[in-house]
Amino acid sequence: MSNLVNSINLNKTPNHIAIIMDGNGRWAKGKGMQRVFGHRNALTAVREAVDGASDIGTKYITLYAFSTENWNRPKLEVDALMSLLISSLKKELPDFQKNGIRVNSIGNIEQLPSNAQKVLLNVINQTKHNTTITLTFALSYGAREEIVNAIKNISKKVVNKEIDIEKIDEKIINNHLYTFNLPDVDLMIRTSGEQRISNFLLWQMAYAELYFTEVLWPDFRKEHLFNAIIDYQNRERRFGKTSEQIDKNE
Ligand code: IPE
Ligand code: IPE
Ligand code: MG
Repeated sequence: MSNLVNSINLNKTPNHIAIIMDGNGRWAKGKGMQRVFGHRNALTAVREAVDGASDIGTKYITLYAFSTENWNRPKLEVDALMSLLISSLKKELPDFQKNGIRVNSIGNIEQLPSNAQKVLLNVINQTKHNTTITLTFALSYGAREEIVNAIKNISKKVVNKEIDIEKIDEKIINNHLYTFNLPDVDLMIRTSGEQRISNFLLWQMAYAELYFTEVLWPDFRKEHLFNAIIDYQNRERRFGKTSEQIDKNE
């Protein structure tokens, strides 16, 4: 493990890591248990991912916890996920404070049950001055819904003459997304072997490096994160330029 950390170049770590935490249901099934058992065992992985990201100096980590599409799951599972969200946020608050974690959320938060909203807003408020790392939970989040919401808000401002149509650019769109206060994603990790985006951060991942691992989310530990970072650091991010230009720092 310490060897792994030593292989990481601390001057080249991703500033923003986004994770699709997938595979809880399969993890539970593999143990002959109900799907909810997997969700209940996901918290250790969350802690490890956030601590690991902090260890290497990453400033932003965003976790996909519940998608707009996840509302279509059986009610029993949705209810269990919501109560787990509430209990986990309450339980983790002291550690958020101790470790300098600023909590943030993206998504259509008004869709969440009111007690979940309350706990979430309280944790966001109580941790707002923390500066070590920003931990964003994507809750009732869908990138398409986010874009629709942004277009509505921009359109209203156009109608009210607050924004001139000709002035609409990438920056204005960015400022109307739920992620307005977050930088672009550098590295996106998805667990459980699925190789898809599932409506996560479509705009923000335009130039992210994608990393897929077979590990099921409840088994995810720092070593898995560090392996992803090492893989990321062996890639060349060209942003449309040629390799020669990148070498010359042009
Ligand atoms: C991810 O695990 C957690 C959520 C989507 C809330 P899943 O519940 O999707 O687990 P699998 O993919 O069915 O194994
Ligand atoms: C994506 O996982 C959403 C979260 C991890 C919260 P899903 O398990 O819902 O994704 P699909 O449906 O398999 O693409
Ligand atoms: Mg899944």
